[in-house]
Amino acid sequence: MTPARVCDVLIIGSGVAGLSLALRLADHASITILAKAALSESASLYAQGGIAAVLNARDDSLAAHIEDTLDAGAGLCHREAVEFTVAHGPEAIRWLIDQGVPFTRERGEEGVLGYHLTREGGHSHRRVIHAADATGKATETTLEQRVRSHPDIELREHHIAIDLITRHKLGLSGENRCLGAYALDKSSGRVEMFSARFVVLATGGASKVYLYTSNPDTSTGDGIAMAWRAGCRVANMEFMQFHPTCLYHPRAKSFLITEAVRGEGGKLTLPDGTRFMDAHDPRGELAPRDIVARAIDYEMKRGGLDYVLLDISHKPAQFINEHFPTIRERCRQFGYDITREPIPVVPAAHYTCGGVVTDLSARTDLPGLYAVGECAFTGLHGANRLASNSLLECLVFAEAAALDIATALPQSEPASVSLPAWDESRVTDADEQVVVSHNWDELRRAMWDYVGIVRTTKRMERAKHRVDMLREEIREYYSHFKVTNDLVELRNLVLVAELIIRCAMARTESRGLHFTRDFPGADPRLANQDTVLTPPAAQFSSARATA
Ligand code: FAD
Ligand code: SIN
Repeated sequence: MTPARVCDVLIIGSGVAGLSLALRLADHASITILAKAALSESASLYAQGGIAAVLNARDDSLAAHIEDTLDAGAGLCHREAVEFTVAHGPEAIRWLIDQGVPFTRERGEEGVLGYHLTREGGHSHRRVIHAADATGKATETTLEQRVRSHPDIELREHHIAIDLITRHKLGLSGENRCLGAYALDKSSGRVEMFSARFVVLATGGASKVYLYTSNPDTSTGDGIAMAWRAGCRVANMEFMQFHPTCLYHPRAKSFLITEAVRGEGGKLTLPDGTRFMDAHDPRGELAPRDIVARAIDYEMKRGGLDYVLLDISHKPAQFINEHFPTIRERCRQFGYDITREPIPVVPAAHYTCGGVVTDLSARTDLPGLYAVGECAFTGLHGANRLASNSLLECLVFAEAAALDIATALPQSEPASVSLPAWDESRVTDADEQVVVSHNWDELRRAMWDYVGIVRTTKRMERAKHRVDMLREEIREYYSHFKVTNDLVELRNLVLVAELIIRCAMARTESRGLHFTRDFPGADPRLANQDTVLTPPAAQFSSARATA
């Protein structure tokens, strides 16, 4: 046994979910946050459009937000999760305003200064509060400043959690419980033990499993994979959301063009200027995201196109500059003046609707372990997430987890001061990094080609075959060589890919984000049926678990 770093609550991940949870809890507990990159590097930092909540009770209502969420979710949302999230939305936004987030303001009809609310696909009302087109940056950096100045929050940046430590993994009898986590300190190359009364996964989504994604490099599904290896159920991984509009440019690395551009009147056209969305859905450009992404995919395949166009240039330049300054500047760097010409766009993997199964207090199946934010499956999103409901979910469930943990803390067992050290006795330094980089590329391409926006059984079988082989190779590699950041992520990505394929193959219908040509319609018998996977008991038995 070796001394561990001890705290009350270990939060793995520092996006909006992790940071808001830390701030909500810090007056009750000692907190350590692990971040595998710099603190603010996360999907949260890049969020553009905003956060959905009912803030204008005169025109909008909680009932309307609930209905829009259920409608986008195509029969799979859990009504209680939707009602819970929507009801807590206004308070969550007030909390952010109190923290100092500078949301965009406007003068209303009677000259009163309020907040500007934008509109996005699938929303029946203007209800998305935002900070121009950089809501994530405004929110994440405000929370970062608060967290950095809090005396009871310890920050461990550039520490990547590898696996959770549980009683059963240590061979201890009695009820299983999460005791902490092993994490690689990327600066020293050493694996450290973190021991806590409660552990919270706030690790974000898994969109990096696809070749083209709007997400930063951090979105590798680590929390979902760690929870699975610790014995937690994972659900609805077939519902990977593709954002319809990312900038098409060889050097742009899938830069997102916010849905608010369509919300404020942006039109989608073919390269010859023909509009096409009305032929796919009566809501046109403001149809839910799955419909717009599929329509673009269809038009691109039909016409052999590399991209379609998104045009907001009919709006006054001043309006565009005020509302979309980040997009305007980024497009300018690639040679497009969006006040005068359309933007070439393509869909890209954007959001993981499935994840680690939790209840409304963010508790997972494993006592002592919580999951919040994009890594969690709360039942809110169903078969397709409504735009701007994600940051809302992060905030609402961070608060719910904080309340639950604060209540449980006084009766909880103290964290162990020592834990078995990470076992490196049978591994050596990796000799060939090329194995990792090759498998990484192959995996992401296979997922894009075979388990993308439009699926078939044959393509998914092909993907399963490739992923099974890659998984075996990576398992072998992992058991022989010392861990590195890329190896930890690849091991997680290949597991998440397998979970996505298993869920997708199990759903013999098309619903929401899951569209397969072999079952093109929704099967009414599968409404309200989640795809829930349970891990095999045998896999979580050793401290340095194999892949
Ligand atoms: P993240 O913000 O992704 O944070 C995850 C954190 O976990 C990071 O700090 C990461 O470093 C850390 N981490 C991961 N694995 C490990 C590990 N093994 N060890 C240690 N640390 C780890 N949603 C909206 O509601 N509105 C929007 O306008 C919006 N726009 C978006 C625009 C873009 C370009 C993108 C990519 C997403 C957007 N989304 C939007 C979705 C939303 O941003 C995310 O779903 C949300 O920010 C997820 O927050 P999170 O805290 O759960 O995870
Ligand atoms: C966007 O701004 O289009 C992204 C919104 C979201 O992912 O909810």
